[in-house]
Amino acid sequence: MTRRVLLVSFLALGACSPGTGRQGGTPADTGSALPMAQQRILRAALLTVPSAPVRPESLPDPTNAGARVLVQYCTQCHAMPSPSAHGAQDWPFITRQMWVYIDEMKGELGVQAPSTAERVQLLTYLQAHALEVATSLPPGAGKETFQATCSRCHVLPDPRRHSPPDWPNVVMRMERNMERFHVSGVSHVMAEQIVGYLQMASARK
Ligand code: HEC
Ligand code: HEC
Repeated sequence: MTRRVLLVSFLALGACSPGTGRQGGTPADTGSALPMAQQRILRAALLTVPSAPVRPESLPDPTNAGARVLVQYCTQCHAMPSPSAHGAQDWPFITRQMWVYIDEMKGELGVQAPSTAERVQLLTYLQAHALEVATSLPPGAGKETFQATCSRCHVLPDPRRHSPPDWPNVVMRMERNMERFHVSGVSHVMAEQIVGYLQMASARK
């Protein structure tokens, strides 16, 4: 957390305020202490993964070695991502990208890189608690809206993951995620269609 605060205050110093130099390096950025590539990584990280309310103690299996790696290394540039934010098949690609960023930033502003063993522990942990993916979806009203809307940030979730009375709250939380991630939201009618479809599909045996 302290390192993240450090990164945020570094960016806030104005050396590279968000919004400048998005098209690439501008001469205004050259006053900064960090090379351009590293400034870009920090800016992208802060813009892409907004502060979501994931607290270390609310992680699944929080004393697992992989959970500790997540808390220690994955909060250095952006807020801690939830293991359930992606399906098990997507985590290897996402973490591979993060190793590239981490190796690029290593040593700058105190950024630390995990060992190979820690990387394996983390991936195992993320995959064990990943988003449960829909395998077969029944036909029904709202299916297309669900498929188009709910596959934009992660793989399509399994409707049976939640009971019918739970789905309205989960969809409301996802609407907040859309706001946070600056992804276009859904109309009230669309949200109702999605909830209706999920409730129908989750009630099936
Ligand atoms: C050195 C800085 C840095 C560290 C440390 C870091 N990330 Fe990232 N992360 C980024 C940047 C930059 C982005 C935005 C660009 C992108 O998505 O590739 C990002 C985006 C993400 C996203 C959003 C992308 C998506 O598709 O949802 C996830 C999830 C993520 N990181 C997970 C992790 C995990 C897990 C770790 C711990 C291993 C981690 N990050 C550590 C820099 C970092
Ligand atoms: C803007 C990106 C985004 C969109 C679009 C999105 N999600 Fe998510 N989803 C997330 C993130 C981030 C998490 C992990 C944090 C959380 O649970 O809020 C997540 C996690 C989940 C989970 C696993 C956690 C749980 O409570 O079971 C389910 C299920 C889910 N999403 C369903 C949906 C549905 C249904 C839709 C379509 C209405 C949707 N998502 C659209 C970002 C998104």
